Amino acid sequence: MKVVIIGAGVAGLGIGWRLLQAGAQVTILDRGLPAQGASWAAAGMLALIAELQEAPAAERELALQSSDLWPGFAAELEQASGLGIGLVQGGALLLSDDAARLDALDGRGQVVDAAGAQALAPMLAAGVTCGLWVADEARVDNRALGDALTTAFLKAGGTLLTQEAAVTIESHSGATSVMTPYARHYADAVVIAAGAWSGLLGDIPIAPVKGEMIALAPPDGEDLPGPVIWGNGVYLVPRETDGERRLLVGASMEEKGFDTRLSPEVQDRLRASAEAVIPTLKNWTLTDHWAGLRPKSPDGLPLLGVLRDNIFVAGGQFRNGILLAPVIADAMAGLVLGKNKINPAFDPRRFG
Ligand code: GLY
Repeated sequence: MKVVIIGAGVAGLGIGWRLLQAGAQVTILDRGLPAQGASWAAAGMLALIAELQEAPAAERELALQSSDLWPGFAAELEQASGLGIGLVQGGALLLSDDAARLDALDGRGQVVDAAGAQALAPMLAAGVTCGLWVADEARVDNRALGDALTTAFLKAGGTLLTQEAAVTIESHSGATSVMTPYARHYADAVVIAAGAWSGLLGDIPIAPVKGEMIALAPPDGEDLPGPVIWGNGVYLVPRETDGERRLLVGASMEEKGFDTRLSPEVQDRLRASAEAVIPTLKNWTLTDHWAGLRPKSPDGLPLLGVLRDNIFVAGGQFRNGILLAPVIADAMAGLVLGKNKINPAFDPRRFG
């Protein structure tokens, strides 16, 4: 079976890797370089509680499945690629003034008082009143994940065509092909996994939602927090890559089309919000500021399934693309191969 995947983000690469393992012939087309869109811009949190508080049961169930797959997926990927992806089960601390709200959130966490929160993250501001401690939440280095998936995909025999944007998908007399500015690629199945750009390929209701983030580096002698911390409208994600220590602070949410220009106001707001959570951050150095585009569907749920005939969509991950990568890889590869179905709650045609 010959499959063309549009989009070399963690979704497209993961699906492609699984399809190659099942014996398919896979080509991935990307408008740029692999894993440089939302996969690169993300913070890498596998945030089951903070991100999914208001999600419907179907999405929570999908996220839980993916969370359960993560340790095995990471081990297999590191083995296949020879690259580390920095999966850390460092926990998450959600700060709030409202203990009852935290208590109601989920059975996985444990409400802690001010002293308990300070014990978990000693650098917190003095005014913290309580938090939800979720010990088993994990994070991954999403940029290393993108590199590892690219390597694993190539090592498994996949073809990756970069800087070759899909322009149209055509079906004539039973033959399906993807047109790019350079070639026509025939396929038995096409998977659209082009993130925020998926909507440009036709009738796929996915729109970009911009997110800006910053990174702060600690002065010598100061530690990163141990867990991911959520509070005051921001999240703080510790990240250590090749000995370089950074605290990622995110993120804004704006619907501005494909505009990824950086805003000094957003930078200031993220920094000020983070400093209200951890006052000593005012002594840390701003080392980076970037923006990415989250792919969002009209109801905020993923689009996973058949678009028409032998054309499939894996998109609309919105704020959860890294968390969902393992389950999307397995489920979409299985669907393309005719081995499984996907919950109709994620049907790409549900909007009529
Ligand atoms: N999941 C983090 C974000 O979308 O900002």
